Amino acid sequence: MAEREIVFRVTRYRPTAGGRPTFQDYRIPVRDDMVVLDGLNYIKDHVDPSLTFRWSCRMGICGSCGANVDGRPRLTCGTYIRDLGKRIVKVEPLSNFPILKDLVVDFDDFLNKLASVKPHIIRKDWGDWTKEYTQYPEDLEAYRQQSLCINCMLCYAACPVVGASPEFVGPAASALALRYIRDTRDEGAAERLARLNTKTGVWECTFVGECSVVCPKDVDPAGAIQTLKFLATQRHMRRLLMPGAR
Ligand code: FES
Repeated sequence: MAEREIVFRVTRYRPTAGGRPTFQDYRIPVRDDMVVLDGLNYIKDHVDPSLTFRWSCRMGICGSCGANVDGRPRLTCGTYIRDLGKRIVKVEPLSNFPILKDLVVDFDDFLNKLASVKPHIIRKDWGDWTKEYTQYPEDLEAYRQQSLCINCMLCYAACPVVGASPEFVGPAASALALRYIRDTRDEGAAERLARLNTKTGVWECTFVGECSVVCPKDVDPAGAIQTLKFLATQRHMRRLLMPGAR
């Protein structure tokens, strides 16, 4: 397969060394079957082993290889260099996160937000542990879309509200909250809606919708947040009319 040369313009930054992020250019040979992650790995293996970035599965499953490529959040393992149509490809760390080194950002804040929506099945009584909790295909279909989230953080990097209000719980955590609320085995909807019906919850979202545009799995977090606003309002009204209701 024919090779040609292009330039990868990559962010270099070590916060511990002080200074500001800079760009470093690497001229690399590329083929039509190469994705951006292949280009980064070529640099790491053949040009500059000090370049730091995350990846694991190379198949759009682990969610660890996100970066701003050509100004837009993307999975580097799912972005073909040929599709960018550029002679200079800019690769930067995801926006709205502190940079740890080069293209690696700190996800700790997201993990705290995710924990706050309790992304697991909650039941008061698990009953008989030897028995299955049966679900029908339509039960699975109710939350299948949100369950496809791979926590890649592209949605947080694309969201202007996260940039302006860092306390906002954000798109992926909200989508995963809805995933569990819609699970027929779960009984934790009231706890999650109480958390999301707060100043830092779903009402911060102004429905820009960029989160859904960049999502590589078509999770549609923007749609999930609007659904959660409806469910939170419904719960609020029920509690107003029936004090004591959950
Ligand atoms: Fe796993 Fe890209 S390397 S999603």
